[in-house]
Amino acid sequence: MRGIKDCRADFPLAGDLVYMDSASVSLCPEQVIGAVAEYDRRYRANVGRGVHRLTRFASQRFEDARARVAGFIGGQAGVTVLTANTTASVNMVAGGMRWRSGDRVVTSSAEHHSNLLPWLRLRERGVEVEVVAPDPDGLLDPTVVAAAVDDRTRLVALTHASNALGSVQPVREIGRIAHEHGARLLVDGAQSVPHLPVDVERLGCDYLCFSGHKMLGPTGTGILWMREPDLDPLFLGGGMIETVTSDGYTPAAPPARYEAGTPHVAGMIGLGRAVGYLEEIGMDEVRRHEAHLTGRLFAGLSGLDHVTVFGPESPEKRIGVVSFVVDGMHPHDVAHILDEAAGIMVRSGEHCCMPLMRHLGLAHGTVRASLYLYNTAEEVDLLLAAVEEITRMV
Ligand SMILES: Cc1ncc(COP(=O)(O)O)c(C=O)c1O
Repeated sequence: MRGIKDCRADFPLAGDLVYMDSASVSLCPEQVIGAVAEYDRRYRANVGRGVHRLTRFASQRFEDARARVAGFIGGQAGVTVLTANTTASVNMVAGGMRWRSGDRVVTSSAEHHSNLLPWLRLRERGVEVEVVAPDPDGLLDPTVVAAAVDDRTRLVALTHASNALGSVQPVREIGRIAHEHGARLLVDGAQSVPHLPVDVERLGCDYLCFSGHKMLGPTGTGILWMREPDLDPLFLGGGMIETVTSDGYTPAAPPARYEAGTPHVAGMIGLGRAVGYLEEIGMDEVRRHEAHLTGRLFAGLSGLDHVTVFGPESPEKRIGVVSFVVDGMHPHDVAHILDEAAGIMVRSGEHCCMPLMRHLGLAHGTVRASLYLYNTAEEVDLLLAAVEEITRMV
């Protein structure tokens, strides 16, 4: 059984610098790099097409990876579709539901733009989109959501964990409210699936969207999990049909129906390996490790003069995404100094969450340190020391 302490050596980049931008793209372990390279070297071929031995082998590996990813989220009973990223997954739901004028969607101003813009665009089709506001810690109150959901609501679309503030939303409770009104629940799991044990049955969601590159997998991989395959496919073409005539087509059974064109075969195989890696360590262990580091980081930053930290303090209500500002300094300047002076990589700016930043009165956004299983307490202390040094410039 692999322990979290042993894992650091698996990440080639982890020793060279302090990487704290995992909420954007995580580092990738040798095991995943190897699985992707093995596909390219030994059995590179298309999947679900033809009969030669390489394509059969690649197809088997591709489907094994899909099954592994489905198992990781407890989603064996639903349909697990490979997409390019969370953004593509959300757009496939927005574009695949049959909307009628007067339908309603409820979402929030705490969302990443990827789980907001696809809904806002539906207004052009007569869909009413209600955007509820979170509290100052970025947390949604289920009673506020309940007040926005009615019997015309077809979908409630919310993030599980905020990429800007780390807040973990009560999506399970909100899901119950949605279902009482006959609405569906879409969960943006881009930040929760990599960091928390997520089980679609426990969560009660109807759609779960997440990205492989935030959970040790290759870039350009995402998943759309759906309870019922009742969406219209957004893309049409090769690989997604049963039969075609000059007059029309019969779509293939899901998931192929939703995977038109040659998929990111190496990506899916790499994502399957990434999931296997996380399973070896155990998501409870990942969560415990990150909660420990996050508590240390949150407390350390909160204790510094001229630093304001955002998001909930309670470890149960957050993931390892810690956003802060230094008085009088642009977040990009802070991030530049952290890189140049201390070799620490953090994200700065609005984190694709402009409505949330406006809601918090943050004109230039925040500096965001996001942690993962390969980060250490020593790295957290390095960041704290570097930020303290920066506050002396204020
Ligand atoms: C909460 C959340 N939703 C959606 C996205 C979009 O993910 P992607 O860029 O992989 O499509 C992100 C990316 O940071 C995110 O953090």
